[in-house]
Amino acid sequence: MRTAVCAVLFLLLFYQGEALRCNYCFGKGTTLCTATSVQTCSRLANACGAVILGSPLNSSFRQCMSMAVCQGYVQTPGAFAQCCSTDLCN
Ligand SMILES: *[C@@H]1O[C@H](CO)[C@@H](O)[C@H](O)[C@H]1NC(C)=O
Repeated sequence: MRTAVCAVLFLLLFYQGEALRCNYCFGKGTTLCTATSVQTCSRLANACGAVILGSPLNSSFRQCMSMAVCQGYVQTPGAFAQCCSTDLCN
């Protein structure tokens, strides 16, 4: 039992050390692009983001980014952003 608990804890720690994977796409227009591929994030990118930039840019993307950058998009007027930090959550 104790061994099992240790194994689970170890797996959780190990899993968090693995690189995050995010959906990736880039599109023109004001609707969110459909994911076209999967990206493995670098250590610096600890979040997956889905961002729509409104007029006048009219573009959208899904990709790895740092949570700080993603929160920046959330706070940008005219932009819509979703930030999350589990595999393929965006
Ligand atoms: C962006 O979208 C808005 C609203 O749909 C539109 O009025 C504007 O012309 C578009 N801008 C560009 C650069 O396509």
